[in-house]
Amino acid sequence: MSHRSRAIVSIACFVAGWLWLASLLRRGDDTSTRLRPQWVGKGPVEVLNSTLGFQKILVINLPSRTDRRDAMALAGAVTNLTFDWVAGVSGDDVPERVLPADSEGKQISTGNKGSWRAHMNALRRVVELNLTSALILEDDADWDIRLKTQLQVVALASRGFLRPAKSGSSRPLAGHSPEREHLGNGNDATAVSVNDLPAGRQPSMPPYGDHWDVLWLGHCGTDLPSSDPSGVQQQPALVTIPDDETVPPPAHLRPHPFARPDEALRSRFPPHTRVVHRVTPGTACSQAYAVSQRGARRLLWLFGTETMTTGWDFLLRHWRTKKAKTAEEPSRTRLGVPVPPVCLAVQPPVFGHHYGKGGGSDITAPGGGYLGSEREMTPYVRLSVRMNLGKLARGDGISQLADQWPEPDETDR
Ligand SMILES: *[C@@H]1O[C@H](CO)[C@@H](O)[C@H](O)[C@H]1NC(C)=O
Ligand SMILES: *[C@@H]1O[C@H](CO)[C@@H](O)[C@H](O)[C@H]1NC(C)=O
Ligand SMILES: *[C@@H]1O[C@H](CO)[C@@H](O)[C@H](O)[C@H]1NC(C)=O
Repeated sequence: MSHRSRAIVSIACFVAGWLWLASLLRRGDDTSTRLRPQWVGKGPVEVLNSTLGFQKILVINLPSRTDRRDAMALAGAVTNLTFDWVAGVSGDDVPERVLPADSEGKQISTGNKGSWRAHMNALRRVVELNLTSALILEDDADWDIRLKTQLQVVALASRGFLRPAKSGSSRPLAGHSPEREHLGNGNDATAVSVNDLPAGRQPSMPPYGDHWDVLWLGHCGTDLPSSDPSGVQQQPALVTIPDDETVPPPAHLRPHPFARPDEALRSRFPPHTRVVHRVTPGTACSQAYAVSQRGARRLLWLFGTETMTTGWDFLLRHWRTKKAKTAEEPSRTRLGVPVPPVCLAVQPPVFGHHYGKGGGSDITAPGGGYLGSEREMTPYVRLSVRMNLGKLARGDGISQLADQWPEPDETDR
């Protein structure tokens, strides 16, 4: 071999080496490369810790379901999450006398009783330990491996949503001209992009914002809000997160097979939009929600001691309705003004209910037509941790993971 060809070979080896090294490095930074770059690294860093910026993550697991605990423990480990476990409760172990008095004659199912008690135990843990906030998960919850990056953006949106209007001002986000989005039901609700939120001061309750009670991050579907009935909007009706690549394409956004084909999220917003808004009465399933200390105290008081008439997710979604209000002594600010519960939902949700091979839930069977489904899957979650658990346990990078809800042009690849 001549000097020249030897030089060429060594240059080629050098270049190939660098390319190989670069590909390794890229794989190391895997969790972010498949999220649109504009969202990577934005948002509060507290969200990146092992409890997602909450003080704890509590997972409800019936001790006899060791299969679920194994899978959940693995899912948490590959996502770098730390869990605290709350023992699930079988409905047979909940005596009638511990239920709030108004449950009498309501024919509450055994499953609903067990679910109620397990969630009350989780809320009580938050109260007893005086946690500032906690995320409560059911043990069949699933999420995208890019969860932390997703939640950083959600935190930006919820902070924007919750930022109080300047005192004396009832205008939404003074100084900005939010576009008016027509949201159906004959109502106009104000939508503001997370990109257009004014920079605000640091919230007193980082990282998700000020004075919230519940952040409903995982559900089986919810409705969009209509405009504020009082007409005095302190906040936008919803904050949009545009161009979020982790949102499934529109065809896969139906919460369940019976959902209306013109489901509002699909028809009113461009593809890959996620929205943050107040919880609406259509919200179903409670596989993932966060509570603040204030929220946990209010929920434990109301639903632990005062009223329990149906399944837990129904109770939670109707927290703001008249029936719940009459039973509630609202907490008061220093000015003596009652504070209604502040509950936000994310749509599509960040956490989904995982429908495994083995069938329904012990805690509460979610409705919605998926129960007969033979296929293992998780609605709304693209790079599902559960669906990729074997690969993740083996140490595969993000580029090797299966996308459950690919773009239409990617399906035949
Ligand atoms: C994560 O961040 C939150 C908010 O700052 C904090 O309360 C929590 O203790 C942190 N978790 C861990 C494991 O450090
Ligand atoms: C978990 O932490 C390891 C070590 O820091 C890191 O390599 C990996 O990318 C992290 N995984 C996720 C999903 O954040
Ligand atoms: C609970 O925590 C709050 C603030 O985090 C603190 O002000 C309060 O004193 C604590 N309560 C108890 C009983 O420790």
